[in-house]
Amino acid sequence: MDPNKRPETMERITTPELAQAFIDEQIAAVKEQVGDKKVLLALSGGVDSSVVAALLIKAIGDQLTCVHVNHGLLRKGEPEQVIQVFKEELGANLIYVDAVDRFLDKLAGVDDPETKRKIIGKEFIDVFAEEAAKLEGIEFLGQGTIYPDILESDGVKAHHNVGGLPEDLQFDLVEPVKLLYKDEVRVVGKQLGLPDGMVYRQPFPGPGLGVRCVGAITRDRLEAVREADAIVREEIGKMDPVPWQYFVAIPDVKSTGIKDGKRYMGWAAVIRAINTVDAVTAESVEIPWAMLTTIRDRIIAEVPGINRVLWDLSDKPVSTIEWE
Ligand code: XMP
Repeated sequence: MDPNKRPETMERITTPELAQAFIDEQIAAVKEQVGDKKVLLALSGGVDSSVVAALLIKAIGDQLTCVHVNHGLLRKGEPEQVIQVFKEELGANLIYVDAVDRFLDKLAGVDDPETKRKIIGKEFIDVFAEEAAKLEGIEFLGQGTIYPDILESDGVKAHHNVGGLPEDLQFDLVEPVKLLYKDEVRVVGKQLGLPDGMVYRQPFPGPGLGVRCVGAITRDRLEAVREADAIVREEIGKMDPVPWQYFVAIPDVKSTGIKDGKRYMGWAAVIRAINTVDAVTAESVEIPWAMLTTIRDRIIAEVPGINRVLWDLSDKPVSTIEWE
């Protein structure tokens, strides 16, 4: 049986009871797999890694060490929140690594999306290897891989293709939610007692704002993406129900603005809001006009460099959810 293929008989996890059965099964499986060894987990703070962290804390407690890498591509306020929730509230072993300059220096001038993903993925692995080397006896690497990652790991999501670990540091993987779709991961997270704000948080790609600062990343445009994203999350977050994913991308294209009678070059921010069940197909969500104009006005007023706001209406297929 292929361990990366979801059995056709596997029931969709939609209820607390099914989630609890899954949790019990995975706790037993993780205990069996890990024994008394130690696990290192990349804790980005997104739904997937947070659910895996909570599951592993339940299964193996302080045999788990979480590493939160700030690669500079996280959303506004995110590193602080990860520290607050996991270190302060859940009492996890959490190592915080400030790797902002390291990542952004490596990414400077790189505009190919797959190369960007590969650089980010490789730097991640390197950071983990370095952190693991500082710790005694790490033998496993926890991962928040979910089923759509496996289904789509044909090149586009090079970031997910684990296998790039250095030969002298081959960890076995612990991937307790790898056969689950996103909606199931949320049901499991809720059952694990994670706060709603974490369980229902929108998914965020591993390469983070790096794939939303389209083309070669510059620090100024990256800051603009981060600020505009915070505004869009705040405003679209008021919708009921909230869309599955909503964010801003800033293409590497100049946009002419006019201020005090003078023309100047800036950028255009693109708003995207989609609904989906499993991220394999997606449809654009209708955003009320008043909300769009509020977002437009706030972005223009609050985000330096942006002089144009666009709305991406495309469905998947043919457009992928992310811009690159
Ligand atoms: P696309 O853009 O392929 O995205 O329609 C589908 C879902 O996957 C997320 N995504 C990624 N997640 N690493 C990730 O962990 C990546 O490189 C990556 N690219 C896209 C995207 O945000 C959406 O939810």
